Amino acid sequence: TVVELTDSDYALDGFPDYMRKEIAEQPEAVRRALLGRLDERFSTARLDGLRMDPHELRSVQRVKFLGCGSAFYAGQIGADLVEQLARIPADAESASEFRYRNPVVDGDTLYVAVSQSGETADTLAAVQELRRKGGRVIGVVNAVGSAIARECGSGVFLHAGPEVSVASTKAVTNMSTCFALLALLLGRVRDLSVADGRRIVAGLDALPDRIEEAIEAEDHIAEIARRFAGARSMFFVGRVRGWPVAREGAQKLKEISYVHAEAYQAGELKHGPIALIDAQMPSVVIVPDDELLAKNIGTIEQIKARGGPVIAVTNAMLPSGLADAEIRVPHVTEELDPILFGIPLQLLAYHLAVALGRDIDKPRNLAKSVTVE
Ligand code: G6P
Repeated sequence: TVVELTDSDYALDGFPDYMRKEIAEQPEAVRRALLGRLDERFSTARLDGLRMDPHELRSVQRVKFLGCGSAFYAGQIGADLVEQLARIPADAESASEFRYRNPVVDGDTLYVAVSQSGETADTLAAVQELRRKGGRVIGVVNAVGSAIARECGSGVFLHAGPEVSVASTKAVTNMSTCFALLALLLGRVRDLSVADGRRIVAGLDALPDRIEEAIEAEDHIAEIARRFAGARSMFFVGRVRGWPVAREGAQKLKEISYVHAEAYQAGELKHGPIALIDAQMPSVVIVPDDELLAKNIGTIEQIKARGGPVIAVTNAMLPSGLADAEIRVPHVTEELDPILFGIPLQLLAYHLAVALGRDIDKPRNLAKSVTVE
């Protein structure tokens, strides 16, 4: 599949900045990532760029995602998807750590190098170290012809289109979408049932429309952002599926608003961070409508009991008045929740930064692609 780019990819088209434009482009970007890659007949994914036959796909014993910044957090969503759908142990590590710690590289692991630009020095160095040691590494990259794409030789292109804003939005969403495809493929050559495969295929197919609906909550999210724009620090809290979502949400806020934000696993709150909860410390709590709903409601109650304001990001029916503000997320096949829940967090960070008068596309001290150490 060849994706043609036009001049309008680089024009602002009436948007105030590239980040806002790229947020709006996500339904289309995800459609492109899925184009020709969903196999309805066998309820699986087709990823020809991997160049792995079923025998090879079955020989994978572990999957490790490597990337920096948002690509690292997206990798954690990928690792969770692979474990759930394929039942293969998987994890994510920052490429910057991996490259310096004399990593154990084994032949049964599939290494996945994740990068929007394909030029991040630490990720490229991790790939080179892997190849030197004989590791099997694929690239999940946006920029065709980039150093990481070339070094890997095989993988999955994101097809997000050019991303100009330093804070990554559509590339990150496409990363998780491509990981869902990879997890589906690895799962369907193993024990993921046809019925479950069909559920995931249907969920991916519906994802662009659900993203569009999530973006429609923008005015409400902007209002919440203005209400909390005075906060000096914020917590982002999630568990299991919600945890990488919380990490990426905190990352976005830090990057463009310069408000200190920290992500915590819900269960870890009571082991330290809860000491920081008071009326001046809002918490954004990720609450998917899944088997952990009661646990997450419990987390909100714990925060409220210490006087902490709570912004719940949820597709569940929460007891009324439980949270101080609620951001509604549409329903999608629940394994795909982490992809969809990222959207309102982008908008929250965006409007908080706008309220504070920040330079959205050129945040201080950051570069779009870090090609030096
Ligand atoms: C920089 C950017 C981040 C980005 C990271 C990885 O630090 O500021 O927003 O997530 O690089 O970039 P990559 O191009 O490898 O995805």
